[in-house]
Amino acid sequence: MTDRIRVYEVGPRDGLQNESMPVPLEAKRRFIELLADAGLSEIEATSFVSPRAIPQLADADELLRSLPRRPGVRYPVLVPNERGMARAEAAGAAAIAVFTAATDAFTQANIGMSVDASIAAVTPVLARATELGWWRRGYVSTAFGCPYTGRVEPRSAVDVALRLLDLGVDEVCFGDTIGVGVPSQVAALTGMAVEAGVPLDRIAYHFHDTRGTALANVAAGLDAGVRCFDSSAGGTGGCPYAPGAAGNLATEDLVYFLDASGWDTGVSLAGVLEAARFIASALGRPLATKVGQAGGWDPATGSAGPR
Ligand code: COA
Ligand code: ZN
Repeated sequence: MTDRIRVYEVGPRDGLQNESMPVPLEAKRRFIELLADAGLSEIEATSFVSPRAIPQLADADELLRSLPRRPGVRYPVLVPNERGMARAEAAGAAAIAVFTAATDAFTQANIGMSVDASIAAVTPVLARATELGWWRRGYVSTAFGCPYTGRVEPRSAVDVALRLLDLGVDEVCFGDTIGVGVPSQVAALTGMAVEAGVPLDRIAYHFHDTRGTALANVAAGLDAGVRCFDSSAGGTGGCPYAPGAAGNLATEDLVYFLDASGWDTGVSLAGVLEAARFIASALGRPLATKVGQAGGWDPATGSAGPR
């Protein structure tokens, strides 16, 4: 395994989809530019879902169309169905994320269909994206716990992941949508996935820090050999259809933790903090994340690093 960790930024999509304060298109674009300036090379930019379901991201078409592309930076977009795929194509996407979950109760609440029906909905989407040579990620939400049915057995999440891999996703991302998971569950799920034939380098984790377990879960993922983790600059986010979902793991907290642990991320903490401060102010609130408040730390001098 390499020492390089992929930090997959979800702030512009997962972060902003659940914020009640509307963020103007220009501010979204600036946020994404600051994230790319910080060295983040995978930035989930927006969603081509129904604007009635997620009004916060109703400007997806215009946003993606007007986003300056940078070499080496990927801007995946969330796509639920063929209608969303057509919009993504027209707006110039080159990478997508499709989503389903480990429980029917959650997909029913989120997208009005069973897990089977959601897989059927994304099947032609993934076929088309494969034909176009796009990068493809598949989310398995509620991988540890569901707000409607409780604890989720790892087997259920692994079964859904295998179905997504069969449909040609490059990577499966297990989501702790409501932030209830703990490290032992991450170890168990990763072990079971690998045993079932999912290659470690095709597994990512998406933790919410709802109960303060996100970084501990990252550590468990690292121990198990996973090398891609999602986070949101400023710690914004959640899913409006998942009661109790709070913010994503903050990118500044994740990057501090990885840097200080000796992993290479290619991401500048100072740059992430700038993006995080920018989006917090666009949302009209102070930056409340741990590293956002404390700043980084310079081990050579003992003083707090860039804030
Ligand atoms: N983009 C834009 N509009 C879309 C769309 C898309 N990808 N998919 C469906 N629609 C529109 C339809 O045209 C229809 O509009 P109308 O009522 O004006 O005719 C309406 O949405 C309903 O379409 P339907 O096919 O019946 O879908 P639905 O109501 O069963 O909704 C989803 C299914 C998946 C489109 C919707 O639940 C959704 O977008 N959910 C997103 C949830 C989400 O993003 N959650 C957070 C991420 S985890
Ligand atoms: Zn999320």
